[in-house]
This record gives sequence, C-alpha cells and structure tokens, in this order.
Amino acid sequence: MEINIPEAPDVMLPPEDWALVKDYLSLLLNESNLPHFVGIVKKVKQKDEDTGEEREVNRRMTTEDFIRGLRDPRVHVLSFRNDADDILGYAILRDPPDGEHETWIEKLVVRNQYQNKRRTDVQQPHVGTQILEQIKDYAFGTQTFDGRDREILYTAVVMFVPNWQRTDRLFTKSGFRPLVRWQEHAEVIMGGKFVTRDTERLGLRREDWEASKLRKLLVQQQEQAAAVSDLN
Ligand SMILES: CC(C)(COP(=O)(O)OP(=O)(O)OC[C@H]1O[C@@H](n2cnc3c(N)ncnc32)[C@H](O)[C@@H]1OP(=O)(O)O)[C@@H](O)C(=O)NCCC(=O)NCCS
Repeated sequence: MEINIPEAPDVMLPPEDWALVKDYLSLLLNESNLPHFVGIVKKVKQKDEDTGEEREVNRRMTTEDFIRGLRDPRVHVLSFRNDADDILGYAILRDPPDGEHETWIEKLVVRNQYQNKRRTDVQQPHVGTQILEQIKDYAFGTQTFDGRDREILYTAVVMFVPNWQRTDRLFTKSGFRPLVRWQEHAEVIMGGKFVTRDTERLGLRREDWEASKLRKLLVQQQEQAAAVSDLN
C-alpha cells in the first residue's frame, strides 16, 4: 500500500475546527492508542465519604481538558493528509516558554488502519515515518509562536506498554537520540486501569537535522548524476 503525503502539514493555532479536534481526540482515546500518551491522566481532589478527608484521585482527560490545552499559544496542532485529503494523523508541537529552548512533540498518532502492524503479506505504508519527517521540517523550518528559531526537539516514549518499541524505533531511526530514562514516571491508562510506566526522553538537535538534510541532498545529487551518466 503506497501512501503519499503532500508536502506541508496543516497548522491550527489556536484550534478552530471542531470536527478536527473531535477526530484527533477520538484517536487519542482509542483503547489501543491510549497507553502511549502522557497527560491523558488528570489528578483531581475528592472528598473521602467515610473520613471526610480530601485525597487526590486519577481521572481521564475530558474533551474540555483537551480543548483548554490546545488554547495555549505555545501549542501547534499539526494534521497530515493524503492526496485524497483524508486525515492520516495528528501531532502537537509545544514551544518552550521564554528562556527555555526545547520544543516537544506530543500526542503523535496515526489513524489505526494505517499503523504499522508488522505484516509481511502487505507492504506497510510507514505513515508515522513520513509524518515525523514533516514534523521535523516544520519545526526547524519555521519559528516558535514568539519568533524564535527552534533549537532542539524532544519527545517522550512510554515504555512497557503494548507496541512501545514501535514508537521507540520510529524516533531512533529518524535521528532522535535517547537522552534519559525516568522510572515509573508516566501515569497512563492501559486495559481500563491507571498504571505507571517508565518513560524515555529522546532529542534531536537542529544541527543534526541540518546535517541529515545535507546528507540526503548529496545522495539525491549523486543518484541524479548516475542516472544522467547511464543515459549518455
Ligand atoms: C507510533 C506510530 C506514530 C508509528 O507510525 P507507523 O506508521 O505505525 O510506523 P512506521 O511504519 O512509520 O514506523 C515504525 C517502525 O517500527 C517498526 N515496528 C513496528 N512494530 C514494531 C514492534 N512491535 N517492535 C519493534 N518495531 C516495530 C516498524 O517496522 C518500523 O520500522 P522500519 O521502518 O525499520 O520497518 C503509530 O503506530 C501510532 O500512532 N501508534 C499509536 C499511538 C502512539 O504510539 N503514538 C506515539 C506516542 S509518542
């Protein structure tokens, strides 16, 4: 299955399109995608009926929480379409506050039917790989909401949930380097339960992205030169 994603992602800032927001949220809350996302679990204070004491309990992110989060001016919602204009996936890019330098890629999700299922009988479309290339180009090719060049891209992979190695592989093959591992750091939802899992933070510096773009360009030029010399 070949899928072509035309050049640039659509960028929504702040979110205006309700249908898009709803579609994105439904993908995040899908049972098999849910364990991969930090920030879905929210803490709220609740009064214990027996003792009357207040305690902190977990609850799932609501639509209101999600929309409130998207209204932050540092948040860019990216959506990715194929040639037929169907949306294949989404991601959030969160810019750093003043004085900080890292932009985070958050809540990257590919529509389930296009996710890599590691099937050998049909060609996998590698939608996530294509989307990540576009996220990097967008992040380093444009500026933050307050006009700064982005210096480093970070992401966090939730470990030891089903298919976590797929996300890890996606980022490492795309040039991200593992930086630090936090034990029992992320609260996520798996199989309907709140659980804590380790997370791994990975990063990509602007200079590494620039070097890889240059390498790709050189390979392209060499291939073009070889094709021309074959013709002659
Ligand atoms: C993670 C996600 C974005 C990846 O996109 P994708 O289109 O499915 O993946 P791609 O085919 O582009 O790349 C995945 C890579 O991992 C490999 N892979 C797939 N399943 C794997 C597994 N169980 N273990 C190890 N590697 C795996 C693939 O073979 C591929 O590597 P390759 O190009 O060397 O063959 C997508 O699967 C998704 O949305 N998953 C659910 C939500 C999620 O996990 N989001 C990430 C939160 S940070």
